[in-house]
Amino acid sequence: MTLGLFPPNSEMPEQQAKARLKGTAPHMACEDNLRFMEGLADESMKLIVTSPPYNIGKDYEKKAPLEAYVRQQEAVVEACARLLEPAGSICWQTGNYVDQGEIVPLDVVLYPVFKSHGFKLRNRIVWHFEHGLHCSKRLSGRYETINWWTKSDTYTFNLDAVRVPSKYPNKRHFKGPNAGKLSGNPKGKNPGDVWIFPNVKSNHVEKTIHPCQFPVELVERLVLALTDEGDCVFDPYMGVGSSVIAALLHGRVGYGCDIEQAYVDIAWQRVQALAHGTLRTRPMGKPVYDPTKPNGGH
Ligand SMILES: C[S@@+](CC[C@H](N)C(=O)[O-])C[C@H]1O[C@@H](n2cnc3c(N)ncnc32)[C@H](O)[C@@H]1O
Repeated sequence: MTLGLFPPNSEMPEQQAKARLKGTAPHMACEDNLRFMEGLADESMKLIVTSPPYNIGKDYEKKAPLEAYVRQQEAVVEACARLLEPAGSICWQTGNYVDQGEIVPLDVVLYPVFKSHGFKLRNRIVWHFEHGLHCSKRLSGRYETINWWTKSDTYTFNLDAVRVPSKYPNKRHFKGPNAGKLSGNPKGKNPGDVWIFPNVKSNHVEKTIHPCQFPVELVERLVLALTDEGDCVFDPYMGVGSSVIAALLHGRVGYGCDIEQAYVDIAWQRVQALAHGTLRTRPMGKPVYDPTKPNGGH
């Protein structure tokens, strides 16, 4: 497991980099996730957030029979259950497994796996995006889901940290004892369970060689809502480190592993760029590009 802030050949002094990242070094390694997790302590993670392979034959996976895929996922979920703090959350982001044109929503298949470990589903968040494959025999898929599970009924949820601007911030009660008073929360509204974030395609500022990166802003919202500063955030299928970046941006400690060295190298480069102040991420709250508005509404 790599425990230094940077790989050995880094030119940035460790202390300087730590200060820039508001504290603790991330823990990232090129390793199978079950092995990586063996080295982590029981109940040490506040948030485990990930997007596993979907078993659809991407560069980084071998397509397996669905039953075998589910068994692999069961082993990973079981290991994650051991690592999760009692007030912690697991967010499992998935799409569809596709077999000869028939779709199988993976969160449906994995639902019993999480339930068998006593997890409780708090939200099934729909992540809507606008770009992807154009299908000819069914409607093109333009959403995936994030199932937010908690380990107990007493869980961290910082709603104020993720409120979004209200549509009508000056709306007031019309009648009754509160007539004339603001009807909404002045801090903004609950973001709801349908999230619209552009997916990371070629013109996205965060695009790397990875075919399916998380947009950092998506993980930032989960980090802010489900953890406190100083908490540990882990991604067992880390890819190019988007979850670790989201954790570091908000003073959390990032953990992650991936079996592809090329992705782990990029994750380290992104962490270094963050420490140098040169990493570009799409800012939270930036409106989605709208071609009908001047300058796309930006
Ligand atoms: C959907 S991608 C995740 C991408 C990531 N969310 C990001 O933002 O870059 C799934 C990743 O899981 C990795 N992977 C597959 N099997 C693994 C295993 N057994 N242990 C660790 N990583 C694995 C793949 O290499 C791939 O990068």
